[in-house]
Amino acid sequence: MTNPTTTTTTKHERIALGCMGMSRMYGDADEAESIATIHAALERGVELIDTGDFYGQGHNELLIGRALRDRRDRARLSVKFGALRGPDGAWLGVQDSRPAAVKNFLAYSLVRLGVDHVDVYRPARLDPAVPIEDTIGAIADLVKAGYVRAIGLSEVGPETVRRAHAVHPIADLQIEYSLVSRGPERAIFPVLDELGIDLTAYGVLSRGLLTGSAPQGPTDFRAYMPRFTGANRERNQALVDALARLAAARGTTPAALAIAWAMAKSPRVIPVVGARTRRQLDDALVARDLRLTADDLAMLEAAVPADAVAGTRYPEAMLRHMDSER
Ligand SMILES: NC(=O)c1ccc[n+]([C@@H]2O[C@H](COP(=O)([O-])OP(=O)(O)OC[C@H]3O[C@@H](n4cnc5c(N)ncnc54)[C@H](OP(=O)(O)O)[C@@H]3O)[C@@H](O)[C@H]2O)c1
Repeated sequence: MTNPTTTTTTKHERIALGCMGMSRMYGDADEAESIATIHAALERGVELIDTGDFYGQGHNELLIGRALRDRRDRARLSVKFGALRGPDGAWLGVQDSRPAAVKNFLAYSLVRLGVDHVDVYRPARLDPAVPIEDTIGAIADLVKAGYVRAIGLSEVGPETVRRAHAVHPIADLQIEYSLVSRGPERAIFPVLDELGIDLTAYGVLSRGLLTGSAPQGPTDFRAYMPRFTGANRERNQALVDALARLAAARGTTPAALAIAWAMAKSPRVIPVVGARTRRQLDDALVARDLRLTADDLAMLEAAVPADAVAGTRYPEAMLRHMDSER
């Protein structure tokens, strides 16, 4: 993976907007502000809008559909499918990627989004009961029929990337990547470089851990994330403080610096930032103008060493289901 020794220039489209936090995943969100944030992102040159059909059980797609009603042509839509949820929001299954289910999920997503196609369609996780070839084959049928433009993956490992790419070209792999979640650098980055696949990096702010955000209550998914809880949270405050000090010294914010770091690590990295207010969006987009040198990167990585973070990036039970962790 590229380790720049010179300055890095960023392009507008290299920051994407992730909308999960607008639909009950991180506690309450303000709908009018969510829509204003999506509009502001498009106005400021962000093109890729990321969602999942299970974010708020369809709520997130309906919200995006409303936001894009008169400006569909300005956005590229990336949609994840497959997690199973009950009417009360309970998680009923990690992933359903049977070919018929894939086509069924997309049919409903198109209606909720109010569009005739999505730009990138991807299984949110690997379904261990279905060969990846069958899942990608089903999405490839949807590409042929014009309902999907490109195929993506999410939280899978190198072997699955290779198998999927052999069936149909893969546009990007979505995976958690941040100063404190650097796992993909070892085995994932080289495969993506080899195959020419982009990496849409989520959790670049470690879900707000790096910017000092805290879970809003029991309905906030972060309340169950190891890095946000108990003694781990207290220990991680030292990393938050270190990043804040470096950002202040540079006259910028921790969010902008953390995002710029991810972009500087490789031209393939497209941060999917989970801003849910215009203020957060403005703050995040400052990263586009930050030029980080190799020395800057080294200083950041020394101040916020990945192995210093306390707690795993998901609870153990969830990590067990993740192909990317094998
Ligand atoms: N493929 C997958 O498995 C997967 C998993 C998770 C997410 N995703 C996608 O990735 C997107 C981003 O994930 P994420 O929201 O967890 O990651 P994130 O960008 O690391 O965290 C976003 C959170 O950080 C806090 N924050 C503070 N300052 C911010 C700023 N300037 N800009 C943005 N956020 C700021 C906010 O929390 P407060 O508002 O509470 O302060 C916000 O909700 C999601 O929306 C989703 O589309 C994909």
